[in-house]
Amino acid sequence: MSIHKQKVRRVTTHVLSEMKLRGEKIAMLTSYDYSMATIVDSAGIDIVLVGDSASNVMAGHETTLPITLNHMIYHGASVRRAVNRALIVVDLPFGTYQGNSKEALNSAIRIMKEARVDAVKLEGGREILESVNRILSAGIPVMGHLGLTPQSIHKFGTYAVRAKEQDEAEKLKEDAKLLEEAGCFAVVLEKIPADLAREVAEDLTIPVIGIGAGSGVDGQVLVLHDMLGITQEFSPRFLRRYHNLFAEIKGAVSSYINDVKTLDFPNEREQY
Ligand code: KIV
Repeated sequence: MSIHKQKVRRVTTHVLSEMKLRGEKIAMLTSYDYSMATIVDSAGIDIVLVGDSASNVMAGHETTLPITLNHMIYHGASVRRAVNRALIVVDLPFGTYQGNSKEALNSAIRIMKEARVDAVKLEGGREILESVNRILSAGIPVMGHLGLTPQSIHKFGTYAVRAKEQDEAEKLKEDAKLLEEAGCFAVVLEKIPADLAREVAEDLTIPVIGIGAGSGVDGQVLVLHDMLGITQEFSPRFLRRYHNLFAEIKGAVSSYINDVKTLDFPNEREQY
């Protein structure tokens, strides 16, 4: 019997571009902690996103704005300890890259050094290009994020579908091209018309990952807590729920409470 463990082929940015070339779709999900990331990675996910949606689903904030760089590093490092195969991307949180490119680089370096993940994600196009370039020049892989960019929610005022109008669609296409030319390895398109997303995916050579952007892109991403049905109120049309984990966990907790109160737990076999 061989004592050598079978080596897993880690997903790299190069593997992702090969997947786009051969038309294999990329599956991406968020994770923020060790236990969930262990499950998600063992199921064979290609990319784990340590999203700033942690601000909503882990910390209970209404927006992604309050989460800090230290919080993101904590979540990223927890996920790193769990993941063997997937590529791990961590969001640069609001306020850590928009101000100036030196601060952006320092933020990205802290994430790479302290969380030891594979890449960072930034929201925006032309307006953050200097930051993107500076991070890339340090050899840190960057994923872009266009369309609905939740860190700008106070500018948009709503989580409605973006880029429905011609001028916004043109700007999005231009921004996507700029990000590709700068050297980003992939771009997320959030909540935009499916035809526009398809056009961008066909135009770019780097993978385009959609969320609420239809099926014509190179891969899909969802927030884990949404697709598992842990979050209850968030129900956009693009969200497919694969489970109602809220109800399942609540049922299990209710059974436990009942067992404790009725002296059913622990029984003789469950004690020393
Ligand atoms: O933070 C996040 O979860 C994200 C995804 C919605 C793409 O950025």
